[in-house]
Amino acid sequence: MERILFIDDEQMVLDGFKRLLWEYRNNWEMEFALSGSDALRMIELHPVDVIITDIRMPGMSGLELLEQLKQNENHRNIPVVVLTADQDRTLKRKALEMGAIDLLNKPVDKEDLVARIKNVLQLKHYQDIVIENNKALEKQLVISQKMDLVGVMASGAIHDLSNLLAIIVGYSSFLIEENMLDKIESTSMEKIRRAGDKASSLVNQILKFSRLDQKLTTINVNEIIDDIVSILSPTLSNGIHIKWGKPNEAIYIKSNAVKLQQVLLNLCINGIQAMSDSQGFLALSAKRVGQETVCIEVMDTGAGMDNETMKKLFTLSFISNEEGKKTGLGLFAVKHILDEYKGKIEVESEQGKGTTFRVFFPLFQQ
Ligand SMILES: Nc1ncnc2c1ncn2[C@@H]1O[C@H](COP(=O)(O)OP(=O)(O)OP(=O)(O)O)[C@@H](O)[C@H]1O
Ligand SMILES: [Mg+2]
Repeated sequence: MERILFIDDEQMVLDGFKRLLWEYRNNWEMEFALSGSDALRMIELHPVDVIITDIRMPGMSGLELLEQLKQNENHRNIPVVVLTADQDRTLKRKALEMGAIDLLNKPVDKEDLVARIKNVLQLKHYQDIVIENNKALEKQLVISQKMDLVGVMASGAIHDLSNLLAIIVGYSSFLIEENMLDKIESTSMEKIRRAGDKASSLVNQILKFSRLDQKLTTINVNEIIDDIVSILSPTLSNGIHIKWGKPNEAIYIKSNAVKLQQVLLNLCINGIQAMSDSQGFLALSAKRVGQETVCIEVMDTGAGMDNETMKKLFTLSFISNEEGKKTGLGLFAVKHILDEYKGKIEVESEQGKGTTFRVFFPLFQQ
């Protein structure tokens, strides 16, 4: 059953809610708290799906409660409906700016209350699905980056292997064909050659397979960035906004869509992570530069970087074994992908101001 928490400093108001929603007691589990701090304790013990809170309360006000919820990683996604008897529009606007999902006027009308609760629960349901999907996606990103890394190392090794096998097969064939061996030696050499041949074809199969996912397609850059924005938007905390300066014309490049998405997601997630105080914006833009080049820009107003960090940005030096989200593989994978698909990257950063990454691709003329 979905849980709703009502908060008001007057017992009478809480009793009123209980009466109004009596017929829904089997649909929703309803909890009541007389103060913001009681409410926080209750949520800590048992999560809720919606909070309906008064604004003016002694001790912690509704807005202060809202602020505390938004700062808490576990609670920031609980939808909060703010109740107010006030005609004070500034207060109402403030509540919405701080992340309240809806406002309700006192005295509360039953139909109105029920309709809003249903709406908010529905929204919460969709939001939960999106958040789950995003978590799965991020996990997938980390895994595919690890695979990329293994791929980079393996493909180098496989190339060498293929060359070495060519030498083994070549020399053994030469010795057999030139009749330089006696019968026993020649039988053994034939075995070496066959084994070498078999190994060669195996290695070639692996090489072929590793080329499979390098498929190039014509990509509309605007569409890819639309996708990125809709993937990221639901995961942002309230103070962080995405600006997408979508150009009027479609811009095409020839690349691998999955890999390009991986590049942009990495840059955006880094930018968001750099806004540790959960304030600021991430600005995305795309444009043609000259006749032949496309530039995609990812700019953030985060912490920026010092020179030391900038120097080793695209290397493997950030790899950490810490259990958790960060692997330190992100920009290394980005660079590797760009090298593979004729892309270039540059970065500008200032500590305390923010960072801009620019990615360049050859323009594809339709
Ligand atoms: N936009 C940015 N603003 C500030 N620092 C950044 C930014 N992008 C990258 N960095 C710095 O560069 C480091 C390396 O980034 P990279 O994406 O390679 O790894 P990560 O983000 O630490 O881990 P992962 O991407 O695997 O989760 C980051 O830890 C951070 O210190
Ligand atoms: Mg990263």
